[in-house]
Amino acid sequence: MRTCGIQIDYTKMMAACIGPEHGIRPAELRGIARRGRTAALSVAAAVRTGGLGFSKLPFAGAVADEVRRVADEIAGEVDTFVVLGIGGSALGAAALHAALAHPFHNLLPREKRNRRPRVFVLDNVDPEFVAGAIDLLDFKKTAVSVVTKSGGTAETLAQCLVFLKEMRRRLGTRLTRRRVVVTTDPERGALRAFALREGYRLFSVPPDVGGRFSVLSPVGLLPAAVSGLDIVSLLDGARAAHDACLAPGLAYNPALLLAALQHISCVERGKTIAVMMPYSNALAGVADWFRQLWAESLGKRLDRAGAVVHAGQTPVRALGATDQHSQIQLYMEGPADKVITFLGVRGYRRTVRIPAAPPGDDALDYLGGATMDDLIGAEQRATALALAEAGRPSMTITLDRISPRALGALLYLFQMQTVFAAELRGINAFDQPGVEQGKRLTCAMMGRPGYGALRRGIARSDRRCASRCALSL
Ligand code: PA5
Repeated sequence: MRTCGIQIDYTKMMAACIGPEHGIRPAELRGIARRGRTAALSVAAAVRTGGLGFSKLPFAGAVADEVRRVADEIAGEVDTFVVLGIGGSALGAAALHAALAHPFHNLLPREKRNRRPRVFVLDNVDPEFVAGAIDLLDFKKTAVSVVTKSGGTAETLAQCLVFLKEMRRRLGTRLTRRRVVVTTDPERGALRAFALREGYRLFSVPPDVGGRFSVLSPVGLLPAAVSGLDIVSLLDGARAAHDACLAPGLAYNPALLLAALQHISCVERGKTIAVMMPYSNALAGVADWFRQLWAESLGKRLDRAGAVVHAGQTPVRALGATDQHSQIQLYMEGPADKVITFLGVRGYRRTVRIPAAPPGDDALDYLGGATMDDLIGAEQRATALALAEAGRPSMTITLDRISPRALGALLYLFQMQTVFAAELRGINAFDQPGVEQGKRLTCAMMGRPGYGALRRGIARSDRRCASRCALSL
């Protein structure tokens, strides 16, 4: 099997290390192994029959070629690329950019960015944020990518209308047409018809791939390729992880193992919060992306049999070492309701040596001559150890190096972990009734035709909940 350069150490999840109250006993892992095997076989069968949409994405070489062709064309014409999308239509692109581009890519002069465009992901309709972006942009040198799987999300459609107006005003209709790319469902949704009518370039998200599983489709690939990232290696890493994640046993299948550890911790030990804490600014976006994946896929009222289960584990993102000075006190001594997953890096892409301090200053001396890599590594190990001593479970996923290939593998691993976690809990990972209800309520409140009954329902609850309990200062 091809390796992905990723190691998982779950010693500090186990009772032998952190004690029996919060730690997992080997017998518990053996206990879940049979269900894990059934889950693995059913996922493998779904993959074989093409029933697991996102698992096909790493193999879509022709799509990647087309993405690269369009990306290079765009990169040759503009200096800024703006992604308009929200949720799964934004977080993957942001995660790839944060992990693989220079940490200050957008602030570097063009020649230091390999002459590739700056990339901004605008994932909100906060008017100050949107207006601020418009202030910043030189529309003559900007291309815009509108991304919405459903083609009907109000936030993205509103942004699209705002940006199209600006672009048409400053560029005219013909040039705007060249500068807009739309990524959406190949059949459904208002946006596709609109894009076809207007003559915009179109990419498709396969119908069986939902937003939070779409990072390896053009949704994530196009912005990555525009900023010059190596999407071929990204997909190669995902393919390598794909093989590993189909093995039928906990001992060989990293995604199944991670899912089983979280499942036992949550269901048997009441660890209802899953913290992901990268010791790398570059991986903070991966933790944000994972937060949506884990929350929306597993946070469900009903299981597959229709029983009310209110399943789910609340995902939290923290950043090491920064949040040692913000969150760790709580994780160490607060409620014992968390599992911490550290994301570590064995070889950072840059080294910063700490210069020697003036002689005789003990408080500074010990740092001199070390590197920041040593320091952040020591902080990560110390935090994991301190948590273990306090009986708090954690595991560590270490990347040999943050590379496109390793990142592809990591994202794919987390998607498969999520699928297995849903299998073990008996729920559907791929629907999001809560999100859909929010979208319907937004349409109703904004006066969309056909939503009258819902609007009247909202008015009734508005009356019941009219602001009576409030305080001003
Ligand atoms: O994962 C999901 O399906 C959702 O979170 C969507 O990504 C989000 O609601 C945005 O939807 P769309 O891409 O359809 O605009």
